[in-house]
Amino acid sequence: MKKLIVANWKMNGSVQLAKELVRDIINGLSVLPDVLGKCEFIICPANLYMYIVRHSSATTPYITLGAQDCAAEENGAHTGDTSASMLKDSACRYVIVGHSERRIDRGETSAVIKAKAQAAHNSGMKIILCVGETLHDRQSGHAENIVRTQLLESVPETANVKNTVIAYEPVWSIGSGLVPELAEIRGMHAMIAQELEKKGWPAAEIRVLYGGSVKADNAKPILNMHEVHGALIGGASMDAAAFIAIAQTVETV
Ligand code: PGA
Repeated sequence: MKKLIVANWKMNGSVQLAKELVRDIINGLSVLPDVLGKCEFIICPANLYMYIVRHSSATTPYITLGAQDCAAEENGAHTGDTSASMLKDSACRYVIVGHSERRIDRGETSAVIKAKAQAAHNSGMKIILCVGETLHDRQSGHAENIVRTQLLESVPETANVKNTVIAYEPVWSIGSGLVPELAEIRGMHAMIAQELEKKGWPAAEIRVLYGGSVKADNAKPILNMHEVHGALIGGASMDAAAFIAIAQTVETV
């Protein structure tokens, strides 16, 4: 199974930067057949810049367009929101749901995230569902329970191994430069996979990504763990060379 390398541009960029960034990513990857043999890429820009990624990557099968969020509702009077079917209609194939910046900063509960995940599935999109503990959760010894609860409460009945990828993102690691010990990542990923196996998902097809301060200089041992099926990358995804360098650390698929 190829590793999934996901760029989460968050609320960053401009028309010009998005054009240059996607151009540089494509130019860089196009001369690296070895990397393309081991990795698939998803780029999740702000909604306004989706057309740029869509247009620029129209002939690059290894790049898929993703969104950072979607509404739980199908359509209607929800000023400012974007529905899953609108995203699908705009060539998005994945949507991130449950990112901690939405769980915490926007107060989204696991019930809300579950509804968004279900809306994405109903529109035919795949989800990247994020879970992760805060520093307080970790220091009080509750990290695993918190992550398990988020997982069980956020994964909808519509989810299956084909339409759902999980991303383990410790909140304290996002944008901080800190990453957990490798054994901690391995343990959390194994727990997540076990919970999904209990739902009948085939173990060999389950994908659990790691996210949180992934950079070229720390990616190699993380991405080459058997339990880690890719990375969700924020800061380093805004720099084409840094983003590609992370993918280059993947040794085998
Ligand atoms: P980071 O962000 O790579 O900047 O830590 C990861 C994320 O929030 O998905």
